[in-house]
Amino acid sequence: MEDVLQQITQYKKEITEFTSADKNIAETFRIKYLGTKGVIKSVMGEMKNVPNEKKREFGQILNEFKLFAENKYQALRESTVNRLQSTVDHSIDLTLPGDALPLGSRHPISLVRNKIISIFQRLGFAVAEGPEIEDDWHNFTALNLPEDHPARDMQDTFYISQNPDWMLRTHTSNVQVREMEKGKLPIRIICPGRVYRNETISARAHCFFHQVEGLYIAENVSFADLKQTLYFFVKEMFGQDVKIRFRPSYFPFTEPSAEMDISCLICNGEGCNICKQTGWVEILGCGMVHPNLLENCKIDSNKYSGFAFGMGIERITMLKYQIKDLRLFSENDVRFLKQFTSAI
Ligand code: DAH
Repeated sequence: MEDVLQQITQYKKEITEFTSADKNIAETFRIKYLGTKGVIKSVMGEMKNVPNEKKREFGQILNEFKLFAENKYQALRESTVNRLQSTVDHSIDLTLPGDALPLGSRHPISLVRNKIISIFQRLGFAVAEGPEIEDDWHNFTALNLPEDHPARDMQDTFYISQNPDWMLRTHTSNVQVREMEKGKLPIRIICPGRVYRNETISARAHCFFHQVEGLYIAENVSFADLKQTLYFFVKEMFGQDVKIRFRPSYFPFTEPSAEMDISCLICNGEGCNICKQTGWVEILGCGMVHPNLLENCKIDSNKYSGFAFGMGIERITMLKYQIKDLRLFSENDVRFLKQFTSAI
């Protein structure tokens, strides 16, 4: 019996260290130890050689040995299953279609603003910015709108109650003044930004909207330069077929002043309610910078001249995308916003 006991100890050691390169390691183990011709069976066969008084003790040892082997078998099986499962979990099936990631989209105002910027950048204009809370000098007075000037009424201004000299800028023309005051010439800038006016909100008006201002000051700048620049802009923005016309107009900051119309893109110039049956829509104001502005900003108006223009981004966006209600831009309705997916 001593021999068998020694054998069992040896087997236990083997079992503890049991390992195999076989994929089916648990099955290999089962056949070797627990199978009909396995180790356990053969050790049990020793029972008949054990003297009667020792049978009970030997039986217990055998049972314990069997349990030991069965536990190992169980552990091997579990580790195989886990390994198989973990292979499944972590494997990547490269043939599966990918999950669609919901992508945001740019606001149409941003798309059009970026397009305007890129067109003027190609003509050498740099982007300049200025404050939205502005003082009277930069928003009005320096722009040739002294205190009692009637044209101030054209722009319903939000004043800051603590200091009536401060206001929300009514146009991006304030940046013109700030750039000219820097005194670095020539100047060739566009200024995109948000502006505010105390207007009743409707499909055609809002209390805040966006403008792009343009300013070019150098020696010998002429009205022809202004026209060429704006022609280029309109053709790039709306296509080569669009028709353009200039109408004389009035702005305190420019002399002479003009407004520019383009042929209505909705009815192709035939007349519809967007163009009020005229076939034309106004898109910007412009003119030659008034000499008073140059002098206000300490620029020699005998030496330098320039042109300026200002346009509303909302108006251009509405024409470009045929949007009929200005309020859509600020309602943040995703169903509206998600339609504008790519750059223009
Ligand atoms: N500031 C004007 C407005 O808000 C737009 C404008 C017109 C700007 C003519 C200009 C300009 O620079 O020359 O209505």
